[in-house]
Amino acid sequence: MKVLLVAGARPNFMKIAPLFHAASGLGAVECLIVHTGQHYDYEMSQAFFDDLELPKPDFFLEAGSGSHAEQTAKIMVSFEVVCREQQPDLVIVVGDVNSTLACSIVAKKMWIKVAHVEAGLRSFDLNMPEEINRMVTDSISDYFFVTEESAVTNLEHEGKSAEQIFFVGHVMIDNLLRQVEKLKEVDCHSLGSWSLKEKLQGRDYIFLTMHRPSNVDDKEVFSGIVGALNKIAERYPIVFPVHPRTGKMLLKFSLELSPNVMQLPPLGFLESLFLWQDAALVLTDSGGLQEETTALGVPCLTMRENTERPITVDLGTNVLVGNHSTDILAACAKIENGELGKAGRIPPLWDGKAAQRIWEILLKQ
Ligand code: UD1
Repeated sequence: MKVLLVAGARPNFMKIAPLFHAASGLGAVECLIVHTGQHYDYEMSQAFFDDLELPKPDFFLEAGSGSHAEQTAKIMVSFEVVCREQQPDLVIVVGDVNSTLACSIVAKKMWIKVAHVEAGLRSFDLNMPEEINRMVTDSISDYFFVTEESAVTNLEHEGKSAEQIFFVGHVMIDNLLRQVEKLKEVDCHSLGSWSLKEKLQGRDYIFLTMHRPSNVDDKEVFSGIVGALNKIAERYPIVFPVHPRTGKMLLKFSLELSPNVMQLPPLGFLESLFLWQDAALVLTDSGGLQEETTALGVPCLTMRENTERPITVDLGTNVLVGNHSTDILAACAKIENGELGKAGRIPPLWDGKAAQRIWEILLKQ
């Protein structure tokens, strides 16, 4: 079976890595990596290929940045050429970024089967570009590999047949568990973040990530969040790897973060894990970190009104706090009093074996 495994943006790389590694032991599968180039900076792309032990992609499409239409269109045009030349039996797309949408549409129109890994998640918020990507991808995919029960329900409501839906667990957690083990073996002194951790001297600290357009693209909203962060930083140091979008917006709106908010360039996977796994709290608007913190039992406050990953709230350590400064401050104050630092449980099948299950299922189709 010839398979094209598609990745484009940072959160995709940790999802294709377990699929690629699990396929390499299977003689029956030829798995080629297509990198659309949606993310292209060293820290946003190559650093992850290195950390995740992924080989150089077989195809690099150089899509780059642009408006949603420009980026999606560039990926579609280039990916069509790859599909025409390679004639794969299957295209696997992961997650919910523009590359996921673009490549699933191209493949389906060429009568190539499409498997969507991390299918069925819904925030029911169409202001999120990712929600549109998720809905369109799921409307045309052939196989749905899901990470949590809510996704099964959503897909059933959308009329998908039970035979197409496979609750397999989470490939991103496969990767996380592998990297946690790896981190135990590396010499931590060799990590760039070692000196920062030394500087924190065992103090409780907060690990922050933030890049959603709804949080950083609007001056009033972003100023409010920055105000809350500066206040929290009076009590706790905040470690903040800055996403390129967020960095640009901080400059554009001339927003000042307190020196206790330690700004770092975007981090590779291991560097980031090294810092957040020991944080007293993770404050984020990411999709993936909501799940990764749940998997490792680290308290997480998510600066969004909704989540497409409700298991992290129902069972895990995640609490939704929205993006108003007063709500963020109130939630952090509660954590300080020990009220919100949730002790979660590990969701079903988040056991490191999702990629293996996916290949077992695909090889039987
Ligand atoms: C994209 C995904 C989002 C995901 C996020 C993770 C979509 C719609 N959005 O959002 O779901 O959570 O990636 O990072 O697919 N830029 C760089 N270097 C890069 C990549 C981007 O400087 O390597 C700049 C771009 O020029 C742009 C900004 O960062 O100004 C945002 O990049 P873009 O890919 O449009 O969206 P993200 O916010 O990264």
